[in-house]
Amino acid sequence: MSRPELIRDPAAWQRRCTDARDAGTRIALVPTMGYLHDGHLSLMREARVRADARGRPGLSLATIFVNPTQFGPTEDLARYPRDLDGDLAKCGAAGVDLVLAPDDPGAVYPKDFQTWVDVAEVSKGLCGDRRPGHFRGVATVVAKLFGLSRPHVALFGEKDWQQLQVLRRMAIDLDMGIDVVGMPIVREADGLAMSSRNAYLSAEERGRAVAISRALGEAGRRAAAGERDPVALAAGIRAAVEAAGMRVDYVELAHPETLRPVERAVPGTRVLVAVFLGKTRLIDNVALP
Ligand code: PAJ
Repeated sequence: MSRPELIRDPAAWQRRCTDARDAGTRIALVPTMGYLHDGHLSLMREARVRADARGRPGLSLATIFVNPTQFGPTEDLARYPRDLDGDLAKCGAAGVDLVLAPDDPGAVYPKDFQTWVDVAEVSKGLCGDRRPGHFRGVATVVAKLFGLSRPHVALFGEKDWQQLQVLRRMAIDLDMGIDVVGMPIVREADGLAMSSRNAYLSAEERGRAVAISRALGEAGRRAAAGERDPVALAAGIRAAVEAAGMRVDYVELAHPETLRPVERAVPGTRVLVAVFLGKTRLIDNVALP
């Protein structure tokens, strides 16, 4: 498929999207930070379908922006992997029409920028506690991308489960009128959840990383066999990933929407983990069967 059109200037992008929307075009948006893999592309393929859903060709949009406001001072902003050329080819193959890739964060956050979106409750716990300010940065940039892109529907991965809940809440609370759609986690053949950050792993680390999804799968089997104690299930996961030489950031069983810790593991309870494998922080999650 052909390459999508690349737009660098957010103001030009907003004019294009507003014109399309005013002309009655249905718009679907996939925000990303680039270095695209099949997880991102699954969202883009679904965006194509949803943009065209009303029986006439819609507009499928993707954004590629490594958003500085969602990175902590000691995090990997400077070394976050980038490959705009490769990403554009992948976007084209996934049916994306237009790509916004601002070349300068200053174009997104001008000098006097001072408005922040804080989704108070769902941003607490889990990654919210370990990465202070992270979800404020995510919610703010996504609110801006919504304002720039005027989408009817926006697609996000369940890989970042807490992020998905934060953005759903934001869209509802701020009456954005945008359908926030969550898409299943796309995994490597051995079960590792796809992530741009997997590129940081050495071959040896990559081999050990499979323990994360295996531990989650085992917790699911124990729950299906009747284990209802979240402490016991979390302990099993912790032991399995530590045995593979990872350091646990958190293992929690939480209500899927409020993300509050549960006292009893029931079908649909979300099991969420974050671990350090060497210097790389990886996250994954599953629903209990
Ligand atoms: P990024 O990590 O690039 O992810 C972009 C989108 O792809 C997110 O919705 C994420 O959940 C989804 N995704 C990533 N890996 C996936 C996988 N293995 N399966 C399915 N979906 C997957 O998330 C962000 O960027 C940023 O926080 C962003 C929302 C763009 C705001 O800056």
